[in-house]
Amino acid sequence: MPDLVIRPATPADAPGIATVHVGSWQAAYAGLLPEEFLSGLSVEAREQFWAANLADTSVPHTILTATPPGSATITGFAVFGPSRDDDATPHTGELSSIYLLPSEWGRGMGRALHEECVRGLAAQFEVATLWVLSTNTRARGFYERAGWVMDGTTKVETMSDGAVTLEEVRYRLPLGG
Ligand SMILES: CC(C)(COP(=O)(O)OP(=O)(O)OC[C@H]1O[C@@H](n2cnc3c(N)ncnc32)[C@H](O)[C@@H]1OP(=O)(O)O)[C@@H](O)C(=O)NCCC(=O)NCCS
Repeated sequence: MPDLVIRPATPADAPGIATVHVGSWQAAYAGLLPEEFLSGLSVEAREQFWAANLADTSVPHTILTATPPGSATITGFAVFGPSRDDDATPHTGELSSIYLLPSEWGRGMGRALHEECVRGLAAQFEVATLWVLSTNTRARGFYERAGWVMDGTTKVETMSDGAVTLEEVRYRLPLGG
């Protein structure tokens, strides 16, 4: 397991989270999402989104950041909270994001961040779900390795004024206890 400092994010983390968000999206979704959408993603716009999100103390979710010890550079972030799905019970949590800088993939950091999210989810919920693009085989392999199982629910999102349709599949993880 790599040495990693994992802690709740603060508003000062907005630039670092935005950098990971855009870099990870552009690398992970190349060939899966429209090129013009990915190349149009802006760190500045994402920074504004995250700054507003992090400043809003009424949101029910938790945002975690990961940094190497002694470094100020955020290399990953994750978000979890109550499920936003219509069919969810109050006992259902959701892992809504987990993203690392592409240079950090495959070195155990995702596992460390995921474990911290599952710990946080298990303190509040009985079961967790997540949505992943059906074509995101890297992430699906990672989740399956961590014990998540497809629950048979899918949804279709549209992008670019309906020109692009994307299928997402839902995974489920019992939280034990
Ligand atoms: C998905 C992501 C968070 C995984 O993090 P990571 O640091 O690359 O994964 P790790 O190195 O911690 O791997 C953890 C375990 O999963 C396994 N694993 C990782 N990817 C895998 C894959 N595609 N298939 C099978 N197993 C995989 C590893 O072998 C490792 O197993 P081990 O614990 O037995 O050694 C990271 O690759 C990422 O940021 N991807 C882009 C963003 C993304 O798609 N996020 C999900 C959106 S829904």
